[in-house]
Amino acid sequence: MIYLDYNASTPVDPAVAEAMKPHIERYFGNPSSSHSIGRHEREAVDRARAQVAGLWGCQPSEVVFTSGGTEANNHVIKGVAHTLRDRGKHIITSTVEHPATMNPCRFLEAYGYEITYVPCDATGMVDAAAVGHEIRPDTILISIMHAQNEVGTMQPIAEISEYAREAGVWMHTDAAQSCGKVSTRVDDLGVDFLSIAGHKLCVPKGIGALYIRHGIEIEPLHHGAGHESGRRAGTEPVAGVVALGKGAEIAAAPTDHSETERLRDRLHAGLKEAWGEDVVLIGHAEQRLPNTLTVGFRGRIGAEVLAACPELCASTGAACHASQRKRSDVMTAMNVPEVIAFGAVRFSVGRFSTEAEVDQAIEMLAAAASQVSTA
Ligand SMILES: Cc1ncc(COP(=O)(O)O)c(C=O)c1O
Repeated sequence: MIYLDYNASTPVDPAVAEAMKPHIERYFGNPSSSHSIGRHEREAVDRARAQVAGLWGCQPSEVVFTSGGTEANNHVIKGVAHTLRDRGKHIITSTVEHPATMNPCRFLEAYGYEITYVPCDATGMVDAAAVGHEIRPDTILISIMHAQNEVGTMQPIAEISEYAREAGVWMHTDAAQSCGKVSTRVDDLGVDFLSIAGHKLCVPKGIGALYIRHGIEIEPLHHGAGHESGRRAGTEPVAGVVALGKGAEIAAAPTDHSETERLRDRLHAGLKEAWGEDVVLIGHAEQRLPNTLTVGFRGRIGAEVLAACPELCASTGAACHASQRKRSDVMTAMNVPEVIAFGAVRFSVGRFSTEAEVDQAIEMLAAAASQVSTA
Protein backbone atom coordinates (compact mmCIF):
# COMPACT_ATOMS: atom_id res chain seq x y z
CA MET A 1 0.00 0.00 0.00
CA ILE A 2 1.12 3.52 -0.69
CA TYR A 3 0.04 5.80 2.11
CA LEU A 4 -0.60 9.41 1.10
CA ASP A 5 -3.11 10.23 3.82
CA TYR A 6 -0.99 11.80 6.57
CA ASN A 7 -3.65 14.45 7.24
CA ALA A 8 -6.03 11.67 8.30
CA SER A 9 -3.52 9.96 10.57
CA THR A 10 0.16 9.12 10.63
CA PRO A 11 2.30 6.03 11.16
CA VAL A 12 3.85 5.92 14.63
CA ASP A 13 7.50 6.99 14.57
CA PRO A 14 9.70 4.08 15.78
CA ALA A 15 11.44 6.47 18.21
CA VAL A 16 8.02 7.33 19.69
CA ALA A 17 7.09 3.65 20.03
CA GLU A 18 10.44 3.01 21.71
CA ALA A 19 9.92 5.87 24.19
CA MET A 20 6.46 4.71 25.25
CA LYS A 21 7.29 1.00 25.44
CA PRO A 22 8.64 0.91 29.03
CA HIS A 23 5.48 2.69 30.20
CA ILE A 24 3.37 -0.08 28.70
CA GLU A 25 5.53 -3.05 29.58
CA ARG A 26 7.16 -2.18 32.89
CA TYR A 27 6.08 1.00 34.61
CA PHE A 28 2.53 1.03 35.79
CA GLY A 29 2.48 3.49 38.70
CA ASN A 30 -0.06 6.25 39.06
CA PRO A 31 1.70 9.60 38.55
CA SER A 32 -0.30 10.97 41.49
CA SER A 33 1.12 8.38 43.90
CA SER A 34 3.82 9.67 46.20
CA HIS A 35 5.87 6.46 46.33
CA SER A 36 8.84 5.93 44.07
CA ILE A 37 6.90 3.93 41.43
CA GLY A 38 4.42 6.79 41.10
CA ARG A 39 7.12 9.45 41.18
CA HIS A 40 8.87 7.75 38.28
CA GLU A 41 5.74 8.20 36.17
CA ARG A 42 5.25 11.78 37.36
CA GLU A 43 8.75 12.57 36.13
CA ALA A 44 7.90 11.05 32.74
CA VAL A 45 4.77 13.23 32.49
CA ASP A 46 6.76 16.32 33.50
CA ARG A 47 9.41 15.57 30.89
CA ALA A 48 6.77 15.19 28.19
CA ARG A 49 5.15 18.46 29.24
CA ALA A 50 8.49 20.24 28.85
CA GLN A 51 8.94 18.66 25.40
CA VAL A 52 5.54 19.91 24.20
CA ALA A 53 6.31 23.33 25.70
CA GLY A 54 9.55 23.32 23.71
CA LEU A 55 7.62 22.82 20.48
CA TRP A 56 5.24 25.68 21.27
CA GLY A 57 7.81 28.01 22.89
CA CYS A 58 5.78 28.28 26.09
CA GLN A 59 6.05 27.33 29.76
CA PRO A 60 5.42 23.67 30.68
CA SER A 61 2.72 24.86 33.09
CA GLU A 62 0.77 26.16 30.07
CA VAL A 63 0.42 22.65 28.57
CA VAL A 64 -2.65 20.51 29.37
CA PHE A 65 -2.78 16.94 28.07
CA THR A 66 -6.07 15.87 26.50
CA SER A 67 -7.37 12.84 24.61
CA GLY A 68 -6.86 14.59 21.26
CA GLY A 69 -7.79 17.57 19.13
CA THR A 70 -11.54 17.18 19.57
CA GLU A 71 -11.33 17.33 23.33
CA ALA A 72 -8.92 20.27 23.28
CA ASN A 73 -11.29 22.29 21.05
CA ASN A 74 -14.33 21.37 23.16
CA HIS A 75 -12.43 22.33 26.31
CA VAL A 76 -11.66 25.82 25.00
CA ILE A 77 -14.95 26.61 23.31
CA LYS A 78 -17.27 25.32 26.02
CA GLY A 79 -14.90 26.36 28.82
CA VAL A 80 -14.66 29.96 27.65
CA ALA A 81 -18.41 30.09 26.97
CA HIS A 82 -19.15 28.99 30.52
CA THR A 83 -16.49 31.10 32.22
CA LEU A 84 -17.38 34.35 30.43
CA ARG A 85 -21.14 33.79 30.19
CA ASP A 86 -21.87 36.94 32.15
CA ARG A 87 -19.64 39.03 29.91
CA GLY A 88 -21.06 37.97 26.56
CA LYS A 89 -22.35 35.16 24.42
CA HIS A 90 -20.81 35.87 21.03
CA ILE A 91 -18.12 33.70 19.44
CA ILE A 92 -16.42 34.18 16.07
CA THR A 93 -15.26 31.24 13.99
CA SER A 94 -15.08 30.44 10.26
CA THR A 95 -17.04 28.44 7.71
CA VAL A 96 -14.12 26.06 7.08
CA GLU A 97 -13.52 24.72 10.59
CA HIS A 98 -13.25 21.03 11.43
CA PRO A 99 -16.37 19.49 13.02
CA ALA A 100 -14.38 19.49 16.28
CA THR A 101 -14.88 23.28 16.31
CA MET A 102 -18.13 23.55 14.35
CA ASN A 103 -20.09 21.18 16.55
CA PRO A 104 -19.18 22.64 19.96
CA CYS A 105 -20.24 25.99 18.45
CA ARG A 106 -23.53 24.54 17.24
CA PHE A 107 -24.04 23.00 20.68
CA LEU A 108 -23.63 26.44 22.25
CA GLU A 109 -26.12 27.96 19.79
CA ALA A 110 -28.74 25.74 21.35
CA TYR A 111 -27.96 27.43 24.69
CA GLY A 112 -28.38 30.98 23.44
CA TYR A 113 -24.86 31.73 22.24
CA GLU A 114 -24.51 33.57 18.95
CA ILE A 115 -21.85 32.31 16.57
CA THR A 116 -20.55 34.31 13.62
CA TYR A 117 -19.14 32.09 10.86
CA VAL A 118 -16.77 34.28 8.87
CA PRO A 119 -16.71 33.16 5.22
CA CYS A 120 -13.59 32.22 3.29
CA ASP A 121 -12.49 33.03 -0.26
CA ALA A 122 -12.19 30.51 -3.11
CA THR A 123 -8.83 29.29 -1.77
CA GLY A 124 -10.29 28.55 1.67
CA MET A 125 -8.66 31.58 3.28
CA VAL A 126 -10.37 33.77 5.84
CA ASP A 127 -9.70 37.51 5.73
CA ALA A 128 -8.20 38.77 9.01
CA ALA A 129 -9.86 42.19 8.68
CA ALA A 130 -13.23 40.51 8.13
CA VAL A 131 -12.77 38.65 11.42
CA GLY A 132 -11.77 41.90 13.15
CA HIS A 133 -14.86 43.57 11.73
CA GLU A 134 -17.13 41.02 13.46
CA ILE A 135 -15.79 41.71 16.97
CA ARG A 136 -18.48 43.18 19.25
CA PRO A 137 -18.55 44.21 22.90
CA ASP A 138 -20.09 40.83 23.78
CA THR A 139 -17.53 38.75 21.83
CA ILE A 140 -15.79 36.33 24.18
CA LEU A 141 -13.74 34.13 21.84
CA ILE A 142 -12.31 33.93 18.34
CA SER A 143 -11.57 30.39 17.17
CA ILE A 144 -9.99 30.04 13.73
CA MET A 145 -8.02 27.01 12.63
CA HIS A 146 -4.33 27.35 11.76
CA ALA A 147 -4.44 25.10 8.69
CA GLN A 148 -7.48 23.68 6.95
CA ASN A 149 -7.48 19.88 7.06
CA GLU A 150 -9.14 19.18 3.68
CA VAL A 151 -7.21 21.62 1.50
CA GLY A 152 -4.22 22.70 3.63
CA THR A 153 -4.86 26.45 3.36
CA MET A 154 -3.13 28.35 6.16
CA GLN A 155 -5.06 31.08 7.91
CA PRO A 156 -3.50 34.47 8.86
CA ILE A 157 -3.58 33.64 12.58
CA ALA A 158 -0.98 36.18 13.74
CA GLU A 159 -2.93 38.96 12.02
CA ILE A 160 -6.27 37.79 13.44
CA SER A 161 -4.69 37.58 16.91
CA GLU A 162 -3.77 41.26 16.67
CA TYR A 163 -7.42 42.18 16.20
CA ALA A 164 -8.32 39.93 19.14
CA ARG A 165 -5.66 41.40 21.39
CA GLU A 166 -6.63 44.97 20.53
CA ALA A 167 -10.23 44.20 21.48
CA GLY A 168 -9.30 42.18 24.58
CA VAL A 169 -10.87 39.01 23.18
CA TRP A 170 -9.34 35.57 23.74
CA MET A 171 -7.97 33.87 20.64
CA HIS A 172 -7.89 30.12 19.97
CA THR A 173 -6.42 28.24 17.04
CA ASP A 174 -6.92 24.60 16.16
CA ALA A 175 -3.42 23.55 15.11
CA ALA A 176 -4.20 19.83 14.78
CA GLN A 177 -3.14 19.86 11.13
CA SER A 178 -0.34 22.40 11.24
CA CYS A 179 1.58 21.18 14.27
CA GLY A 180 4.77 19.46 13.14
CA LYS A 181 4.33 20.68 9.57
CA VAL A 182 4.92 24.39 10.16
CA SER A 183 5.88 26.42 13.25
CA THR A 184 3.26 26.55 15.98
CA ARG A 185 5.12 28.82 18.41
CA VAL A 186 2.35 30.40 20.41
CA ASP A 187 3.92 33.84 20.79
CA ASP A 188 4.51 34.13 17.05
CA LEU A 189 0.87 33.22 16.49
CA GLY A 190 -0.26 35.50 19.33
CA VAL A 191 -2.84 33.01 20.57
CA ASP A 192 -4.24 32.37 24.04
CA PHE A 193 -5.23 28.76 23.31
CA LEU A 194 -3.92 26.20 20.80
CA SER A 195 -5.05 22.60 20.23
CA ILE A 196 -3.10 19.67 18.80
CA ALA A 197 -3.80 15.99 18.05
CA GLY A 198 -1.02 13.46 18.62
CA HIS A 199 -2.02 11.13 15.83
CA LYS A 200 -1.18 13.75 13.19
CA LEU A 201 2.35 13.90 14.66
CA CYS A 202 3.50 10.29 14.25
CA VAL A 203 2.17 9.52 17.75
CA PRO A 204 -0.62 7.00 18.53
CA LYS A 205 -4.26 8.05 18.70
CA GLY A 206 -5.94 9.06 21.94
CA ILE A 207 -3.58 11.79 23.08
CA GLY A 208 -3.44 15.51 22.36
CA ALA A 209 -2.70 18.73 24.14
CA LEU A 210 -4.05 22.18 24.73
CA TYR A 211 -2.08 25.37 25.31
CA ILE A 212 -3.68 27.72 27.82
CA ARG A 213 -1.84 31.01 28.22
CA HIS A 214 -0.54 31.71 31.72
CA GLY A 215 -3.05 33.66 33.80
CA ILE A 216 -6.13 32.35 31.99
CA GLU A 217 -8.47 30.11 33.91
CA ILE A 218 -11.41 28.46 32.20
CA GLU A 219 -13.95 25.92 33.32
CA PRO A 220 -12.59 22.42 32.64
CA LEU A 221 -14.46 19.96 30.47
CA HIS A 222 -13.84 17.02 32.82
CA HIS A 223 -14.71 17.45 36.46
CA GLY A 224 -13.07 15.08 38.88
CA ALA A 225 -9.81 14.95 40.81
CA GLY A 226 -7.18 17.65 40.50
CA HIS A 227 -5.07 16.26 37.65
CA GLU A 228 -3.34 18.65 35.25
CA SER A 229 -3.46 21.36 37.95
CA GLY A 230 -7.23 21.10 38.09
CA ARG A 231 -7.61 21.67 34.35
CA ARG A 232 -8.32 18.11 33.16
CA ALA A 233 -9.42 15.46 35.61
CA GLY A 234 -8.47 11.84 34.99
CA THR A 235 -5.32 9.83 35.64
CA GLU A 236 -2.77 10.77 32.99
CA PRO A 237 -2.32 8.09 30.28
CA VAL A 238 1.43 8.06 30.83
CA ALA A 239 2.43 6.01 27.77
CA GLY A 240 0.45 8.32 25.48
CA VAL A 241 1.75 11.42 27.22
CA VAL A 242 5.34 10.17 26.84
CA ALA A 243 4.62 9.43 23.17
CA LEU A 244 3.33 12.95 22.58
CA GLY A 245 6.37 14.37 24.35
CA LYS A 246 8.72 12.41 22.10
CA GLY A 247 6.66 13.31 19.02
CA ALA A 248 6.89 16.98 19.99
CA GLU A 249 10.62 16.74 20.56
CA ILE A 250 11.10 15.23 17.09
CA ALA A 251 8.81 17.84 15.52
CA ALA A 252 10.67 20.66 17.28
CA ALA A 253 14.03 19.61 15.83
CA PRO A 254 15.03 21.57 12.73
CA THR A 255 13.31 19.77 9.84
CA ASP A 256 13.68 20.27 6.15
CA HIS A 257 10.06 20.83 5.17
CA SER A 258 11.25 21.61 1.66
CA GLU A 259 11.69 17.85 1.11
CA THR A 260 8.02 17.27 1.99
CA GLU A 261 7.08 20.12 -0.29
CA ARG A 262 9.24 18.71 -3.08
CA LEU A 263 7.44 15.35 -2.90
CA ARG A 264 4.04 17.06 -2.82
CA ASP A 265 4.93 19.19 -5.84
CA ARG A 266 6.38 16.19 -7.69
CA LEU A 267 3.04 14.46 -7.25
CA HIS A 268 1.22 17.55 -8.49
CA ALA A 269 3.48 17.84 -11.55
CA GLY A 270 2.99 14.13 -12.34
CA LEU A 271 -0.78 14.47 -12.08
CA LYS A 272 -0.78 17.52 -14.34
CA GLU A 273 1.24 15.63 -16.91
CA ALA A 274 -1.19 12.68 -16.86
CA TRP A 275 -4.47 14.51 -16.50
CA GLY A 276 -3.73 17.88 -18.11
CA GLU A 277 -6.48 20.45 -17.62
CA ASP A 278 -8.63 17.85 -15.91
CA VAL A 279 -6.72 18.14 -12.65
CA VAL A 280 -7.42 21.35 -10.74
CA LEU A 281 -5.73 22.50 -7.52
CA ILE A 282 -8.16 23.16 -4.67
CA GLY A 283 -6.83 25.39 -1.88
CA HIS A 284 -4.27 28.15 -1.74
CA ALA A 285 -1.34 27.77 -4.14
CA GLU A 286 1.23 29.21 -1.70
CA GLN A 287 -0.27 29.70 1.76
CA ARG A 288 -0.71 25.97 2.18
CA LEU A 289 0.68 23.17 4.35
CA PRO A 290 3.87 21.85 2.74
CA ASN A 291 2.51 18.29 2.69
CA THR A 292 -1.01 18.77 1.32
CA LEU A 293 -2.21 18.52 -2.27
CA THR A 294 -5.96 18.55 -2.83
CA VAL A 295 -7.09 18.39 -6.41
CA GLY A 296 -10.37 18.01 -8.22
CA PHE A 297 -10.45 15.54 -11.10
CA ARG A 298 -12.77 17.49 -13.35
CA GLY A 299 -16.01 15.72 -14.19
CA ARG A 300 -15.00 12.57 -12.30
CA ILE A 301 -15.99 11.23 -8.89
CA GLY A 302 -13.09 11.28 -6.41
CA ALA A 303 -14.09 7.94 -4.89
CA GLU A 304 -14.05 6.34 -8.36
CA VAL A 305 -10.57 7.68 -9.09
CA LEU A 306 -9.33 6.16 -5.83
CA ALA A 307 -11.24 2.92 -6.45
CA ALA A 308 -9.22 2.59 -9.68
CA CYS A 309 -6.05 2.72 -7.52
CA PRO A 310 -6.78 0.13 -4.81
CA GLU A 311 -3.21 0.19 -3.53
CA LEU A 312 -3.24 3.92 -2.88
CA CYS A 313 -4.50 5.46 0.37
CA ALA A 314 -5.79 9.04 0.11
CA SER A 315 -9.04 10.84 1.03
CA THR A 316 -11.99 12.00 -0.99
CA GLY A 317 -13.55 15.39 -0.40
CA ALA A 318 -17.15 14.56 -1.23
CA ALA A 319 -19.73 12.21 0.12
CA CYS A 320 -21.16 9.91 -2.51
CA HIS A 321 -24.13 7.73 -1.83
CA ALA A 322 -26.10 5.74 -4.33
CA SER A 323 -28.83 8.31 -4.50
CA GLN A 324 -27.02 11.58 -4.10
CA ARG A 325 -23.68 13.36 -4.30
CA LYS A 326 -22.76 16.11 -1.92
CA ARG A 327 -19.80 18.47 -1.81
CA SER A 328 -18.05 18.56 1.55
CA ASP A 329 -19.05 21.51 3.75
CA VAL A 330 -15.59 22.98 3.24
CA MET A 331 -15.82 22.77 -0.57
CA THR A 332 -19.28 24.32 -0.35
CA ALA A 333 -17.89 27.16 1.80
CA MET A 334 -15.10 27.66 -0.76
CA ASN A 335 -17.67 27.61 -3.54
CA VAL A 336 -15.73 24.96 -5.48
CA PRO A 337 -17.85 24.14 -8.56
CA GLU A 338 -19.51 20.72 -8.31
CA VAL A 339 -17.77 19.48 -11.45
CA ILE A 340 -14.45 19.90 -9.58
CA ALA A 341 -15.60 19.25 -5.99
CA PHE A 342 -17.19 15.85 -6.72
CA GLY A 343 -13.81 14.78 -8.10
CA ALA A 344 -11.86 16.04 -5.07
CA VAL A 345 -9.07 13.89 -3.65
CA ARG A 346 -6.71 14.94 -0.87
CA PHE A 347 -3.16 13.60 -1.01
CA SER A 348 -1.01 14.25 2.03
CA VAL A 349 2.59 13.14 2.30
CA GLY A 350 4.62 12.92 5.48
CA ARG A 351 7.73 11.93 7.39
CA PHE A 352 8.08 8.47 5.89
CA SER A 353 6.93 9.20 2.32
CA THR A 354 9.48 8.50 -0.40
CA GLU A 355 10.04 9.64 -3.94
CA ALA A 356 9.56 6.06 -5.16
CA GLU A 357 6.11 5.97 -3.51
CA VAL A 358 5.12 9.25 -5.07
CA ASP A 359 6.24 8.00 -8.49
CA GLN A 360 4.22 4.81 -8.07
CA ALA A 361 1.20 6.86 -7.06
CA ILE A 362 1.61 8.98 -10.19
CA GLU A 363 1.70 5.84 -12.33
CA MET A 364 -1.47 4.47 -10.73
CA LEU A 365 -3.29 7.77 -11.07
CA ALA A 366 -2.12 8.19 -14.65
CA ALA A 367 -3.57 4.76 -15.50
CA ALA A 368 -6.80 5.77 -13.78
CA ALA A 369 -7.15 8.72 -16.17
CA SER A 370 -8.22 6.37 -18.97
CA GLN A 371 -10.23 4.04 -16.72
CA VAL A 372 -12.49 6.48 -14.92
CA SER A 373 -15.20 7.91 -17.08
CA THR A 374 -16.81 11.28 -16.58
CA ALA A 375 -19.82 11.32 -14.33
C1 LIG B 1 -8.20 20.44 12.03
C2 LIG B 1 -8.55 19.30 12.93
N1 LIG B 1 -9.03 19.55 14.16
C3 LIG B 1 -9.35 18.57 15.01
C4 LIG B 1 -9.21 17.25 14.66
C5 LIG B 1 -9.64 16.19 15.62
O1 LIG B 1 -8.55 15.64 16.31
P1 LIG B 1 -8.72 14.22 17.06
O2 LIG B 1 -8.89 13.21 15.99
O3 LIG B 1 -7.42 14.05 17.81
O4 LIG B 1 -9.85 14.34 17.98
C6 LIG B 1 -8.71 16.93 13.39
C7 LIG B 1 -8.57 15.52 12.97
O5 LIG B 1 -8.95 15.12 11.90
C8 LIG B 1 -8.37 17.99 12.50
O6 LIG B 1 -7.92 17.75 11.27
